[in-house]
Amino acid sequence: MKRLEGVSLALGVGGGIAAYKAVELMRRLIDEGATVTPILTANSLNFVGLTTFRALGSNEPITSLFNGDSPIPHTKIGQGVDAVVVAPATADILSKFAVGSCDDALSTILVSTDAKVILAAAMHKEMWAHPAVVENVATIRRRGFVVIDPEHGILAGGDVGFGRLAATEVVIDSVVAEVGSKDLAGKSVVVTIGGTREAIDPVRFIGNRSSGKQGFAIVSALLDRGASVVAVSTVELQVESPRLEVVRVESALEMDGATRRSCEDADALIMCAAVADYRVETPWNSKFKRGSGNVPELKLVENPDILAGVVSESKKFSRKFITVGFAAETDDVEKNGRLKIAKKGCDILVVNDVSKEETRFGSADNEVVILFADGSSRFVPLAPKRAIAIEVVNALAERL
Ligand code: C5P
Repeated sequence: MKRLEGVSLALGVGGGIAAYKAVELMRRLIDEGATVTPILTANSLNFVGLTTFRALGSNEPITSLFNGDSPIPHTKIGQGVDAVVVAPATADILSKFAVGSCDDALSTILVSTDAKVILAAAMHKEMWAHPAVVENVATIRRRGFVVIDPEHGILAGGDVGFGRLAATEVVIDSVVAEVGSKDLAGKSVVVTIGGTREAIDPVRFIGNRSSGKQGFAIVSALLDRGASVVAVSTVELQVESPRLEVVRVESALEMDGATRRSCEDADALIMCAAVADYRVETPWNSKFKRGSGNVPELKLVENPDILAGVVSESKKFSRKFITVGFAAETDDVEKNGRLKIAKKGCDILVVNDVSKEETRFGSADNEVVILFADGSSRFVPLAPKRAIAIEVVNALAERL
């Protein structure tokens, strides 16, 4: 499912050098399913051409309140859209919006709407740091509107600092979070995240290279779609939501207990964590010291298979409960994945080939095959983990 299916947007473009990026943003918002009406300020047309927006926008661009068919385009647009997105939002646009000034089509539409407003700021670094801009941004945020901070990097003229328009994905994710489909509202999903740490002594552990990035991306995608999430995680999560409960754990045994308890009230489990297969049978109570004459020997015992355990318990649930596992394989990815989905008994298994440089543990991208228990499968080519997360959540949403 497209994340912005049926969503209507006004895309305001301010007069800054980043205006050229608004073209790609508009394209991508339309790809995500949105209908986009471009609202171009007079100054933006010094940086980008009207023809480009006419050719690529869903509707005819608005450049003035007075040269179209409608005598009241601002109220018509303001009432008809789910969100007004402004990218780039210049210091001037932020200033006008902070005081409610209306002297052109964009500033007037911003004040004539009760739709969501998302402003992706971009300007020169001195402007972003100016107390007037800082106060305007604070005022706008205090009123409940979204301002996306600019990124750090090279600015016009070769200067370096905070001022670059946020990456297109960041702006799109923000639009999805505000007005995207909430098809998972009312559903509760448990997601396990990160690599477990199996204690050797109070300061040492057996761990693995899992970064938790994929699990984190899945939590974000679920929250965007309206789900409630319990994240059973070994790593800290950089996301806050009233619909997110984080249960911090370290070892496989702790993760097992927390996951089973959380699944009792949930609709699905996504088992993203890299769980250690073995733990030290009896960890030392105090730090093991070097030079005591004997080299320590670790006696390992097997950890429970959390996913298989939850699958078997969920058979007793009277409600529908979907289980999703992850598997990292280095060869015969699909064949080994099929064996694993049968062994674990889960409904969906996301298999990735970790033998490739780009998809190793900890990398930013992934390439996966999503296997379903009914024998069907879906290949997701190399993409950032947030894009993979969307596909995994789509697969889950179809089953739920
Ligand atoms: O390590 P393995 O390939 O068996 O992992 C496949 C799936 O099983 C993953 O989703 C992982 O989180 C889960 N798993 C588990 N408990 C274990 C080992 C793995 O739930 N002890």
